[in-house]
Amino acid sequence: MLELAIRAAREAGAILQDYAARGFQIEHKGRINLVTEADLASERHIKQLIASHYPAHRILAEESGASAHDESSSDFGDDYWWIIDPLDGTTNFSHGFPCYAVSIGVERKGEMIAGVIYDPSRDELFAAERGAGATCNGEKIQVSEVEQLEKALVVSGFPYDVRERLDEYLPAWRKFLERAQAVRRFGSAAIDMAYVAMGRLDGYWEHGLNPWDTAAGWIIIEEAGGRVTKMDGSPFDNYTPSLLCTNGKIHDEMLAVLCEVKHEIPY
Ligand code: IPD
Ligand code: CA
Ligand code: CA
Repeated sequence: MLELAIRAAREAGAILQDYAARGFQIEHKGRINLVTEADLASERHIKQLIASHYPAHRILAEESGASAHDESSSDFGDDYWWIIDPLDGTTNFSHGFPCYAVSIGVERKGEMIAGVIYDPSRDELFAAERGAGATCNGEKIQVSEVEQLEKALVVSGFPYDVRERLDEYLPAWRKFLERAQAVRRFGSAAIDMAYVAMGRLDGYWEHGLNPWDTAAGWIIIEEAGGRVTKMDGSPFDNYTPSLLCTNGKIHDEMLAVLCEVKHEIPY
């Protein structure tokens, strides 16, 4: 399954780069939430590939939702969910800003068993399988060693309801701007999580996410030695919209900051 996820992510990445080079149609799902031809073509390709190898497995993909349960299936295929973001960072992609990725996770009975994030602009492929560690382009990766928030480079993002809820999101930004070494916003949750896994970033918090944004990143961070929880420190699952991911060492410090602003947080 990991091999197929890797192949699907690479091929989907090539589709994205092809559209990036020749242009694409953009539509609005919401006022600031876009979808392009490239998102749709990438998703179609990944889904076809998975269905041709694992017809009984179920698929949850951003642009087409959850696949129906195959009643005729006699094996345990429907225990598996492939959770797909065909293009994470669509706003960046549509501006030609090269920070976007394909994200594919495989969940079995609520547990992530494999995940792949592919950044086609840098040709970096992050992958993990439960119990086997995490890699970037085949080389083992590990979270950073930073032990204090004061020395940490942290990242966050804004959900598409940012205009309506800005006052609720800003207090955490303010606190991290005061206490971390620096705060970044790249516009791709998958890249944010991959970078925590490989130690380029030390922590990441965000609200309003969907399973396809976080499924692959979750297992990649854990397999790289990091920690992923809900914002109150309780265990994360793919259907929780808010999360905190860190190298483990600054987790409690970041949790404490989020706790200070809890009453402002919408989820
Ligand atoms: C978005 C990106 C962004 C995050 C948004 C996501 P999309 O995904 O991951 O970084 O801040 O909440 O929805 O729409 O580009 O796939
Ligand atoms: Ca996304
Ligand atoms: Ca997307």
